[in-house]
Amino acid sequence: MKSTNTQVEAGGSVNGVVSVPGDKSCSHRSVIFASLAEGVSHISGFLTGEDSLNTAKAFQEMGVSIERTGETSLSIKGVGLYGLKAPAKDIYMGNAGTGMRLLSGVLAAQQFASRLTGDESLSRRPMGRIIKPLKMMSADIEGDEEGKPPLSIRSPGNGVTAIHYDLPVASAQVKSCVLLAGLYADGVTSVTEPAPTRDHTERMLRSFGYNVNSSGNQISLEGRGVLEACDLEIPADISSAAFIMVAASIADDSDVTIEGVGVNPTRTGVIDILRLMGADITLQNERKAGDEPVADIRIKSAQLKGIDVPEHLVPLAIDELPVIFIAASVASGTTRVTGAEELRVKESDRIAAMAEGLQNIGVDATATEDGMIINQSDIKGGVVETHFDHRIAMSFCIAALRSDEPILVKDTQHIDTSFPGFSTLMSELGMSMNSTV
Ligand code: S3P
Repeated sequence: MKSTNTQVEAGGSVNGVVSVPGDKSCSHRSVIFASLAEGVSHISGFLTGEDSLNTAKAFQEMGVSIERTGETSLSIKGVGLYGLKAPAKDIYMGNAGTGMRLLSGVLAAQQFASRLTGDESLSRRPMGRIIKPLKMMSADIEGDEEGKPPLSIRSPGNGVTAIHYDLPVASAQVKSCVLLAGLYADGVTSVTEPAPTRDHTERMLRSFGYNVNSSGNQISLEGRGVLEACDLEIPADISSAAFIMVAASIADDSDVTIEGVGVNPTRTGVIDILRLMGADITLQNERKAGDEPVADIRIKSAQLKGIDVPEHLVPLAIDELPVIFIAASVASGTTRVTGAEELRVKESDRIAAMAEGLQNIGVDATATEDGMIINQSDIKGGVVETHFDHRIAMSFCIAALRSDEPILVKDTQHIDTSFPGFSTLMSELGMSMNSTV
């Protein structure tokens, strides 16, 4: 991939009505479930970013017919739970932790061997968290000596077995991986989560006619059922909308409406946190897209104040914390984030990457083991490294709305993994961004 740097001019405001691309978590899951379903599913609002396209390619390589029927729509002819074919070569998951962890749950139960690889960032991410429960389910799966990709999977012979698993970390990816393998086990597979995590797997399985029980913090399903094809509308990604929410909150004279955003309560931590900081955010036109709640989100400029971010909101805003750190940089007083050690094992070590970038542009930010302390600062501007992480790149682009000098954001090419068209859309809203290869 060619390296791109983006120069973002200082100051300005953002105004308008926009739509952002489809939800990444739901897009991965839509391909997985539609591929394993009986019949033809039609997906609209699919995220055509690199991460979810790699998941689609993986299933094509295992014999699933996936056709692009429009800009963001797919038609997927499911092969049923037992119809996947052995891939001819290694399956490349690119940058996507979700793709690799969820697919592992499916592949661990197949009667053929497979090998999953990823890019440099994904190759550094911990897979022990899925290897452990999958082995408990009798799967034959190995990472490298540190439990990192590539993952080598062999047929479990007599099939996978149902387990109950207490998740040691609040991870929707691990929960989903275990439930996906559980589709192939005799009897009931269940997980308990230490804190609520995104529940798109549970909701979408139900959309495909599969019975999933959620009771308190325990989720269970009985294996060897059938997924039935369906038509799915994927909501716009609240994680992408978050960049615009912070932009409109921190920039002067701004008023933006983002249409059709997924507002599943396991994803709206960013709205709760920004509101606690004094943001002016209203939800309008609340409705449903399939089993997922959606709304138009309107954000106007507001003077933000620093807060101690409540720890229970952290797993519900885990992907949005980098841009929340930008909001905290201009919020009065001090903002403290704790309980966010998971940020260290995302596409980059997001605590280290954000602290370094914030300090480079003149923000008083201190990294801690499990979060960050940020004091209100005058953002000066300067050069930041993104560590090849899409959300770090977009966060620092947004910071320029309040900087004195331009910000040069290095290696912005990875933005396409989750938010294709980001710089065009932000320019339409009023920002001035120039990318050079
Ligand atoms: C995701 C779950 C989260 C999130 C990731 C997408 C998912 O990761 O950070 O971007 O689609 O299930 P964890 O479940 O590991 O916290």
